[in-house]
Amino acid sequence: MSKGKSVYLGQRMSLKAYNGVSLPPWMYGTAWKKEATAQLVQQAVAAGFTAIDTANQLIHYQEALVGDALQALAKQGIKREALFLQTKFTPVNGQDHRTPYDVKADLTTQVRQSFDSSLAHLHTDYLDSYVLHGPYSRYGLGAADWEVWAAIEGLYESGKTRMIGISNVSAEQLALLCERATHKPMVVQNRCYAALGWDKEVWEICRDQGIIYQGFSLLTANRGVLVEPDVRAIAQRFKTGVAQVIFRFAMQIGMLPLTGTTSPQHMKDNLAAEQFTLSPEDLQRIETIGL
Ligand SMILES: NC(=O)c1ccc[n+]([C@@H]2O[C@H](COP(=O)([O-])OP(=O)(O)OC[C@H]3O[C@@H](n4cnc5c(N)ncnc54)[C@H](OP(=O)(O)O)[C@@H]3O)[C@@H](O)[C@H]2O)c1
Repeated sequence: MSKGKSVYLGQRMSLKAYNGVSLPPWMYGTAWKKEATAQLVQQAVAAGFTAIDTANQLIHYQEALVGDALQALAKQGIKREALFLQTKFTPVNGQDHRTPYDVKADLTTQVRQSFDSSLAHLHTDYLDSYVLHGPYSRYGLGAADWEVWAAIEGLYESGKTRMIGISNVSAEQLALLCERATHKPMVVQNRCYAALGWDKEVWEICRDQGIIYQGFSLLTANRGVLVEPDVRAIAQRFKTGVAQVIFRFAMQIGMLPLTGTTSPQHMKDNLAAEQFTLSPEDLQRIETIGL
């Protein structure tokens, strides 16, 4: 970005990816919920969330308990097709001993085993989005990344997932993937730091390539922004909270925010971020606030 030029204003992304698949404006994240996962997913859907994010990674997620919630919701008449389900393949370096695949198998087999286990956990025969939790390589993409991505592309080509994506990815890695993959990602899920211009380098690639940017830790990675007088003043003007202002900013520039709130009140409050509109001046102020 050239200094002083807005990355976001007037360049809003749509929540339809380049392959024509759309996402809802919000995603409910299920990390760190432990045994409360099933109950919280049901509460989130009752509150109005229709997209659910999880991972086949027992250190942080209880994918099978997300599945329990889906079964309970189905009994209440909320059908599988009414929900957008996203889960992840987590490489062995992000797992403990409870891997959902044979660690001695080749990587293609690991992806297939993890994917099949996710379908079983979630009681479904397809996913809306399947995400590589993070590249194996810190810089660039190595042989393991390419093998795993090819396996994920195979799942997409088979029709078992409507979208594929990558998480915790740098701009350099995403550019490489877009350039060389048979199917570039349709979604990216990254921690979104205001101090990095709200992940502007990655966001710009997403915008240019028709990739949906999903932002997490919008509140926890930006605690300083939440106490900024300008953000507080914007919140007061709209008679809302600073959290809602940040979520609304994310939505208005075309990001899909994740929230993993455990509070029924915050579920309602966060969904209410759809009910007001920040001005171009507000957006411009928030865009540069952490820089
Ligand atoms: N791909 C990855 O590597 C990765 C990594 C991290 C997260 N994720 C995904 O992103 C999801 C969200 O994670 P996150 O890191 O953004 O954190 P989070 O789980 O959404 O937690 C954010 C914090 O903000 C609080 N909060 C939420 N809404 C609030 C409100 N309206 N007012 C005040 N406080 C509020 C929550 O407290 P309360 O519970 O009290 O509301 C919580 O302490 C995860 O569940 C997961 O699905 C993915």
